[in-house]
Amino acid sequence: MKIPFAESFRIKMVEPIRHSTYEERERWIKEAKYNLFALRSDQVFIDLLTDSGTGAMSDRQWAAMMLGDESYAGSSSYFNLKKAIKDIVGFDYFLPTHQGRAAENVLFSVLVKEGDVVPGNSHFDTTKGHIEFRKATAMDCTVDEANETQNEYPFKGNIDLNKLEAVLKKYPKEKISFICITVTCNTSGGQPVSMENIRDVYALAKKYGILVLFDSARFAENAYFIKKREKGYENKTIKEIVREMYQYADLMTMSAKKDAIVNIGGFIAFRSEEIYRQATTFNIMFEGYITYGGMSGRDMNAVAIGLDEGTEFDYLETRIRQVEYLGAKLDEYGISYQRPAGGHAIFVDALKVLPKVPREEFPAQTLGVELYLESGIRSTEIGAILADRDPVTRENRYPKLELLRLAIPRRTYTNNHIDVIAASLKNVYDRRDTITRGYKITYEAPIMRHFTVELEKL
Ligand SMILES: Cc1ncc(COP(=O)(O)O)c(C=O)c1O
Repeated sequence: MKIPFAESFRIKMVEPIRHSTYEERERWIKEAKYNLFALRSDQVFIDLLTDSGTGAMSDRQWAAMMLGDESYAGSSSYFNLKKAIKDIVGFDYFLPTHQGRAAENVLFSVLVKEGDVVPGNSHFDTTKGHIEFRKATAMDCTVDEANETQNEYPFKGNIDLNKLEAVLKKYPKEKISFICITVTCNTSGGQPVSMENIRDVYALAKKYGILVLFDSARFAENAYFIKKREKGYENKTIKEIVREMYQYADLMTMSAKKDAIVNIGGFIAFRSEEIYRQATTFNIMFEGYITYGGMSGRDMNAVAIGLDEGTEFDYLETRIRQVEYLGAKLDEYGISYQRPAGGHAIFVDALKVLPKVPREEFPAQTLGVELYLESGIRSTEIGAILADRDPVTRENRYPKLELLRLAIPRRTYTNNHIDVIAASLKNVYDRRDTITRGYKITYEAPIMRHFTVELEKL
């Protein structure tokens, strides 16, 4: 008999989670103004809001935390992290920050000016927020295949070179802050960028004299997909693939809460000493002194170990196979999602699952609320609410896809939980004909509204 696959870890510590009744959930979600972010965590049974900072650290990481050096300047933890960054991605300069968006804030204070453009692949919302806040424009150059959820194209995070070159030709190089490659591309469904595409984008960038930044939150998952899907990489280790990827980057911002498997942390890494020096001033102003930048010594130690563990094949295989397992269950039930399964999440195609809810009434949000009501599962909308209003016209932006993201925390839930998620979604899908109305917005912030939006049921 073929031996089945099993996780490459065993469990040493557990945390209880609670069931609730339908009536309780109905009350709680109404009190939360139908915004899943506004629920208390004890009102949630399985929390798929995000895979960011929600993973389980390893015994090695917890041990490293006990050895954290909390000196204000020059701590050993800073040097541990500096060494890990040098070993894994090869950059000489780095600044710690408290998380990914802080890295964006510091770096973009140096590089992004009013009137600039930043081409890239579906910029993440905080990345776009930091660009638009500086009155610059994020230009999405993702391949068109990313908009077809049933297309099995293996690298839907790729940048379309023609779209990119059109931007590089149209704007003078002083107006282009950098090219941003998000690996993997969260917004298009946790979809990877191929090594070939990374290499081609870098070559084009150098032809036009532009910097390349990797938004690196899930860089290790990207390397796993390169190993699995790209010819010539099947026998390379994840660490070898990562080193090759970063030969084609000038800068990186990192949310360590994802692929470094910690609960808080981030950093910026640089090839150029000059840009590092300029960013240092902003880091001291916004984050902290250069050798801690908003992180404690123990957290930097945990990130250093996490970068090593997160780039091990066995860990990545366990993680990504769990996401694929959920995808396979949804296949069984005929529920559409962004194919192939992403690295950190399944992105359910809400327009296909709830075809009767009008786009102006936010079908993905509606699906998220229904899934919560069904069994206390919290997910997140990646649709028109997240897309925000156009900064100039203030009209609602309707992206091509309305997705519901089921983000899977790292090393946290078992496949029994995955079975519950799939069955709950099936129950909602089975009653889709009865779900015809969605929600209207009653309060929204001027930027990044999805975090605090308030809704009313129609
Ligand atoms: C691709 C990407 N970039 C940047 C960020 C921002 O990181 P953080 O949440 O640590 O601020 C995220 C967070 O989800 C992300 O997915």
